[in-house]
Amino acid sequence: MSPRLLPLVNAGPHGSRSQMTCHYRCGNACDFPEPNASGNPHAATLIENAIQRRSLLKAGAAGAGALVVGGLLNPAPAAAATGLATVGRSDKLRRAHGIGAVDFQPVAPNVRDAVTVADGFEHRVVISWGDPVTRNAPPFDVNNQTPEAAAEQFGYNNDYVGVLPLDRKRALLVANHEYTDEQLMFPAGRYDDATIKKIALASHGMSVVMIERAGGDDSGAWRRSNPRQSRYNRRVTDQTEFEMTGPAAGDERLRTSADPSGRKVLGTFNNCAGGTTPWGTVLSGEENFNQYFGKSGSMDSRYTTSYARYGITGSGDRGWKDVDPRFDLTAEPHEPFRFGWIVEIDPYDPRSTPRKHTMLGRFKHEGANIQIASTGQAVAYMGDDERGDYIYKFVSRDAFDPRDNQAARKQNMALLSRGTLYVARFTDEDQGDAEYDGLGQWIALANDKESFVPGMSVSDVLIDTRLAADKMSPTRMDRPEDIEPNPATGKVYCALTNNSNRGSSSLPTDEANPIGTSMVRSKIGAPLTSKSGNRNGYVLEITEDANNAAAESFTWTLLLVCGDPEAPETYFAGYPKEKVSPISCPDNVTFDGLGNLWISTDGNQLGANDGLFRVPVEGPERGLVRQFLTVPIGAETCGPLISDDQRSVFVAVQHPGETDGATFETPSSTWPHTDSFPRPSVVVAYAKDSTTDRPERRPTP
Ligand code: FEO
Ligand code: CA
Ligand code: CA
Ligand code: CA
Repeated sequence: MSPRLLPLVNAGPHGSRSQMTCHYRCGNACDFPEPNASGNPHAATLIENAIQRRSLLKAGAAGAGALVVGGLLNPAPAAAATGLATVGRSDKLRRAHGIGAVDFQPVAPNVRDAVTVADGFEHRVVISWGDPVTRNAPPFDVNNQTPEAAAEQFGYNNDYVGVLPLDRKRALLVANHEYTDEQLMFPAGRYDDATIKKIALASHGMSVVMIERAGGDDSGAWRRSNPRQSRYNRRVTDQTEFEMTGPAAGDERLRTSADPSGRKVLGTFNNCAGGTTPWGTVLSGEENFNQYFGKSGSMDSRYTTSYARYGITGSGDRGWKDVDPRFDLTAEPHEPFRFGWIVEIDPYDPRSTPRKHTMLGRFKHEGANIQIASTGQAVAYMGDDERGDYIYKFVSRDAFDPRDNQAARKQNMALLSRGTLYVARFTDEDQGDAEYDGLGQWIALANDKESFVPGMSVSDVLIDTRLAADKMSPTRMDRPEDIEPNPATGKVYCALTNNSNRGSSSLPTDEANPIGTSMVRSKIGAPLTSKSGNRNGYVLEITEDANNAAAESFTWTLLLVCGDPEAPETYFAGYPKEKVSPISCPDNVTFDGLGNLWISTDGNQLGANDGLFRVPVEGPERGLVRQFLTVPIGAETCGPLISDDQRSVFVAVQHPGETDGATFETPSSTWPHTDSFPRPSVVVAYAKDSTTDRPERRPTP
């Protein structure tokens, strides 16, 4: 049976992202009302002692020079306790050269079916969908796919990319496989329906892959190692066992017929962004998990409110319940409570059981990134990627132990099980001044012992985090995606992708979400359109009070109001707009060793392919956005990462060719041009003068 054809949907809320992407990635979330019906007030009505707090902040700032900036405490993302040499973050920060310092001419917006990097750089594919991961993996054969083979090969639609050092020549690449696109993966008529579903299941999850320099020690080029020479390579699939940690582990709502303990879950799904921890593990966010659940009959009425708040409708049409009954809400009403978590995997220990951390709350997690506060506590920043949902942070109870030994690492591995979960409220200090800035509060929801939300227990807060947050008047944001602290300054940056509903009566604009209607005119030929909502997104900058990441208050400013620089509403931190690259729909962020922000995009509204951009956030070039690379037709740029030695830029090219009407037989992209169909792949870009061998000719199946 062929994969089913997509239903026709209104183009409106989907922006420039294809209907296929919306269907497969998030179950057409934008076709449904926002799940957040809390009606939480917007910023202007929530001015609370703003002036007093501003005075306190200024007093705190005067003494801030004496404080340790949170991120500077971060050690190597470590081979800590592995006994392996590594280039540490402190080295990274001292480096005055590398990719962050290189001047390059911006790549012009384009619609090429290629990865295009700035002049002076080149790139190569590191690994693609179907490439072998484990030593048992068979060669990829698109005409003879099996669920068993898929579970040993690199999964579909790579998203987050972590690169953890092993030694000077080798590293571990950790990738998320967010979702599958059955219309692009399978030749029509070749596979039966059940086989397609089982392969799709196995193609989700994560991969750990050893990579090696494709040249000398100073080469920025990397290639995948032979899996037979790696003891680390691993696939995490729908059959991999996870352990639940934290206060909600074992809760009645987490128990199923297969797991009466409520502590052991099979698989992780829709893993979007992530982060590498200071203790050398990888965090990954379970995002649009709701779409995978169907129903064979009625749904448990005890959970009507909770299901609705998470978009769990039982109409998930991936049909997984037909091949695995745990995806049937009628039979297993608790299974969806076992997803929507931050998961942690230790890539240095291939036999370790990955974990799901209930203390970090349950929502549509984009990802999580950690910095160590001046108090020593580990602080994780997290976005709930849905229109009108919230920004969260977690502060650990215990302090990070920076020592490089097994005992310290073991202790650090427990940090995410105990602490306090907060949600963010943004207020407008000046009530409508000309600048997009203001004050903010982290509102405590629960710690591991006590709930601060009336009428909800600690477990209630952690399992129904959206419902808990709704009661505390946080600020409804425009799809909070990747949020990450700058290791050079401790300031925190959040990509707010877009929100087609912003400016509607149910979701008015506010100072932190100021664009409700925009005029979008393409620079490269797309028609002039006038559309409602926040079409192009923002990058938000948060400065924690007294530069302490564990603080409960902060100041904020919009670093970027994205879009066509010629559009009046756009803003690039005050930098002259005629000198910046157009940027639209920021999604993922990362930093180089000089503290420059790198931003990848998802769903460029300006008529060109998505890309990766570098922007300084300090000094005279603050706001100077320059495009570093573009990705192929239909693709989104994911997982950007600058290597610790500052020589390599890794990006995940996700869903190449996922444009409406494209099929396996009639693809709109064939990137990376190894086959007649597209293959999502991880790419590394590096300066041309780094010594490399010639890119190997990739085998075709
Ligand atoms: Fe998977 Fe929030 O993008
Ligand atoms: Ca994302
Ligand atoms: Ca990131
Ligand atoms: Ca995205």
